[in-house]
Amino acid sequence: MMLFQTISALSLLLSSAVAAPRNAPAAFDVMALRSASPIHFAQVNAASRGLFLNLPQSNATCEGKSSGYATFYIENEELVLYSTEGEKQKVFVDRSGMGQGVIQYITGDQGIPRYAELKGWAIDANQNLVFKGEGFVACPDSIDGAWSIWLGEGLDQPGGNTGCLGFTARTLENKKPVGCEYTQ
Ligand SMILES: *[C@@H]1O[C@H](CO)[C@@H](O)[C@H](O)[C@H]1NC(C)=O
Repeated sequence: MMLFQTISALSLLLSSAVAAPRNAPAAFDVMALRSASPIHFAQVNAASRGLFLNLPQSNATCEGKSSGYATFYIENEELVLYSTEGEKQKVFVDRSGMGQGVIQYITGDQGIPRYAELKGWAIDANQNLVFKGEGFVACPDSIDGAWSIWLGEGLDQPGGNTGCLGFTARTLENKKPVGCEYTQ
């Protein structure tokens, strides 16, 4: 009897998993964790080809009322800004000496710098966004008083910035994502 109940509970579990297929990758927003700092709990936003924390507004063109922050998904190790129409906006990293870990996004088939990489994005076991296992730093005094986001590839002060802080990029599943086209 016990065995039968276990089996039927198991098959119920399996059939519900089959009944709700995931045909699209999960969408998520990203929150910075860096305790006792101005970026603790700040949400990632996207504007002017870059990613930012504490950006007052992105001025993105959205398909409805969005969270006001950037929403992403990962597909084939590529980080894509969530939208259901228009050209895809994909995020790249440039870990070369020139790029210093710069993070930017392109729209459609716009070119990327010679050493830029689109593939390598993942969510780790702690639900944190990483690029090839590396985390991020944010640097103050960027556009509209926001903090610009860079890859933390060993340089703590990339791009000639000062006051940069490393942070953990915690992903937060967004169950009702709204598509947006972010500014170029
Ligand atoms: C958004 O628009 C406002 C008003 O035009 C402007 O002041 C601000 O700099 C813009 N922000 C971005 C990130 O483009």
